[in-house]
Amino acid sequence: TSKITTTSLFQMKKEGKKITALTAYDYPFARMVDASGIEMILVGDSLGMVVQGKENTLPVTMDEMLYHTAMVTRACETAMVVGDMPFMSYQSSLDQAVDNAGRFLKEAGAGAVKLEGGADVCDVIKAVASAGIPVQAHIGLTPQSVHQMGGFKVQRDEDRLMADAMEVQSAGAFSVVLEGIPSPIAEKITKALTIPTIGIGAGAHCDGQILVLHDMLGINDRHLPKFVKKFADVHAVAAKGLEDYLNAVRKGEFPTSEFEYK
Ligand code: KIV
Ligand code: NA
Repeated sequence: TSKITTTSLFQMKKEGKKITALTAYDYPFARMVDASGIEMILVGDSLGMVVQGKENTLPVTMDEMLYHTAMVTRACETAMVVGDMPFMSYQSSLDQAVDNAGRFLKEAGAGAVKLEGGADVCDVIKAVASAGIPVQAHIGLTPQSVHQMGGFKVQRDEDRLMADAMEVQSAGAFSVVLEGIPSPIAEKITKALTIPTIGIGAGAHCDGQILVLHDMLGINDRHLPKFVKKFADVHAVAAKGLEDYLNAVRKGEFPTSEFEYK
């Protein structure tokens, strides 16, 4: 199987095939996710929360994003790798946005970038796409605007969401993430757009789905939003392994002779 491209994603939407996506932040997990046959891996700035243990995504820097993105691209054979542009890496000028987007491809080997916002960031999407860099848009609940939204809240303004979706498509986005919006609105947007929609907390009618890997695998024991289904309980498996190790060492049951050099 060959590398997934923007063209293969368009083709999947045309054929009504669901697009699968997850986040990953490092080499071993990206290996597992890529080997699963997934189409898209997002190196999300959610790493600020699930890897760095911060309150929200705002403090994540370009250097941190590039560091993690490079680990992920090194692991991926087929999945498209999307680098998530962190807060304040694309807001202050178009030059800054294009330079930083370019770094994801030049320095970290990503195939595309993602940035948050609708109509308000269309000039940025245009500038980045004009540089030959595939851009994924992200509308609805946009975590980098947590303070402006007054918290992580479901977004319900249908007219605004539809307008944002249409405008990011016109601006040249190859795909759009729909986060935290009611299912019927996501369905209407998905039908109205020619580019694939990737949903998270946006119901079943999107062209594809994405979740935060550490949430859906149950790696952390943090509170999970309503839309997350835990497909595994890695935290419990790891906790059990750690408990067994400590008990074995304390009782002198590890290492036995099979783990010794003679
Ligand atoms: O940072 C992230 O993980 C994201 C996805 C949840 C879409 O932006
Ligand atoms: Na993000």
